[in-house]
Amino acid sequence: MNISGNTILITGGSSGIGYEMAKEFLKKNNTVIITGRNDQKLQKVKNELKGVITINSDVSNANDIKKLYDQIAKDYPALNVLINNAGVMETINLQNHKLSPGELTKEIDINLKGTIWINDTFLPLLKKNKNAATVAVSSGLAFVPLAIAPVYCATKAALHSYSLSLREQLRNTDVKVFELAPPATATDLIKNFKESDLKDVTLMPVDKMVAAFLEGFANNKFEICPGQSSQLRFMSRFFPSFILKQLSKPVAAMHAN
Ligand SMILES: NC(=O)c1ccc[n+]([C@@H]2O[C@H](COP(=O)([O-])OP(=O)(O)OC[C@H]3O[C@@H](n4cnc5c(N)ncnc54)[C@H](OP(=O)(O)O)[C@@H]3O)[C@@H](O)[C@H]2O)c1
Repeated sequence: MNISGNTILITGGSSGIGYEMAKEFLKKNNTVIITGRNDQKLQKVKNELKGVITINSDVSNANDIKKLYDQIAKDYPALNVLINNAGVMETINLQNHKLSPGELTKEIDINLKGTIWINDTFLPLLKKNKNAATVAVSSGLAFVPLAIAPVYCATKAALHSYSLSLREQLRNTDVKVFELAPPATATDLIKNFKESDLKDVTLMPVDKMVAAFLEGFANNKFEICPGQSSQLRFMSRFFPSFILKQLSKPVAAMHAN
């Protein structure tokens, strides 16, 4: 992939990985559009990143996606890179929670359905443009779950599977299908985690994670697993019970609370 001269949509670009991607892509002479649900956060990014285009849009809302598409097709018809990055993560005690059915599966709406809906809506536009790509941001936890975040990990495993299928279905097009599976990365996503949940976890700095993504993206590496994510993938293939047990240790503390 060329990493300059693109028109790029990054969902969830108002913090963390999406923000860092926007910053780096802007430096490399790309047109960058980011989305998020919070106007204040979007305005702050607009003040910080010169040239970024911000649009308030919720990936779990089909009307928002339609409006986003209409605006981009009209104002930025050269869109050729789509980065499905928006995501949320919750720890859920499956034996003891007060979540409504909708709250219990909110991560499916945002992380999984959001990605599928956005791809479905934007694919015709991507197919019209050269050097096109869609990227799903899954997780190292797509390969083995962190048991205290059961729905989140299920969404990421599903995104991994969906990306494999999408890649096969788009082989007869010029749209490349990438999957970025980040390891635990220092962002707001995990700011509510307890220290005990992150014991034995090394957080990757977000700039290093995004640098690894850009290198993989530039070299057409379709599954990009930076840092510990590639270890999780390896362990899940060759030592699945061992690694599941390791990542299930925080369940004991969850039950104790
Ligand atoms: N950090 C990690 O350890 C890690 C590891 C593996 C994978 N990932 C994945 O990386 C992606 C980015 O996460 P991050 O770590 O950068 O977390 P983050 O700092 O919390 O960023 C998440 C971004 O998504 C946006 N967002 C959330 N729900 C949205 C929705 N319904 N519609 C549109 N935007 C939405 C947030 O903005 P608003 O809340 O304002 O909408 C924010 O801009 C996620 O898919 C996450 O699962 C992260």
